Amino acid sequence: MPAAKDFKSIPRHVAIIMDGNGRWARERGLPRTEGHRAGAETVRRVTEACTEIGVEFLTLYAFSSENWKRPAREVAALMKLLEQFLRQKTPEMIEQNIRLQAIGRLNDLPKSCQDQLHRSIEATSQNSGLTLILALSYGGREEILDGVKSLLESIERGHLDKGMIDTEVFSKHLYTRYYPDPDLLIRTSGELRLSNFLLWQLSYTELWITPTLWPDFGRETFLEAVREYGRRQRRFGGL
Ligand code: IPE
Ligand code: IPE
Ligand code: MG
Repeated sequence: MPAAKDFKSIPRHVAIIMDGNGRWARERGLPRTEGHRAGAETVRRVTEACTEIGVEFLTLYAFSSENWKRPAREVAALMKLLEQFLRQKTPEMIEQNIRLQAIGRLNDLPKSCQDQLHRSIEATSQNSGLTLILALSYGGREEILDGVKSLLESIERGHLDKGMIDTEVFSKHLYTRYYPDPDLLIRTSGELRLSNFLLWQLSYTELWITPTLWPDFGRETFLEAVREYGRRQRRFGGL
């Protein structure tokens, strides 16, 4: 079992685009939903690895703004799975000292899903270990637009002067205002794109892409990414 000292540096915040559930299922002649079910099990392996090495924040892209375009049957299955996942895993999250949070246009989720989400967030709110942030009905462009609207409201209310707006002030109007920017972004299943994920926050994040499909992703692949992260030299535009 590796200790945190076995890694050159530990990312404080890891973000993951969990992709490839459908292909995993297709390879096995199973319906896509079975891939999503298997993918939900991967989450536990990753949160455990995060806790093991001391990652503080883990953001998981679970459902994008664009995923609403999928066939209604798949969307319904994903929403049901999400609700089930939250209901079943909340006791485990409490046991693992995980604090659950969510970002995205949460009001777009079915009502029963929203209710369960808020119950799970509330039930884990006192936990002090890993903060697990689920991105749900999330889109980076939508988040930026919501941020702009929130800024304009602050100005209208007289809480903010236009001249005071800088990157730090703007960050405080995003869904992610309570979290640091991700240090490491992992995408599974080999696609080389961001798919509208955390567009503002990923400016200087280290990228790591693996062909492994999300249901096959586990502790070892995760630790490989973290090891590689430790070898990167982050310059943030400086020397
Ligand atoms: C990721 O797997 C899960 C979601 C986007 C909800 P996909 O469903 O995108 O799987 P592929 O990309 O079709 O294999
Ligand atoms: C990104 O995966 C969204 C999530 C993982 C939730 P997609 O499968 O939706 O992305 P594209 O369509 O391949 O870009
Ligand atoms: Mg996909």
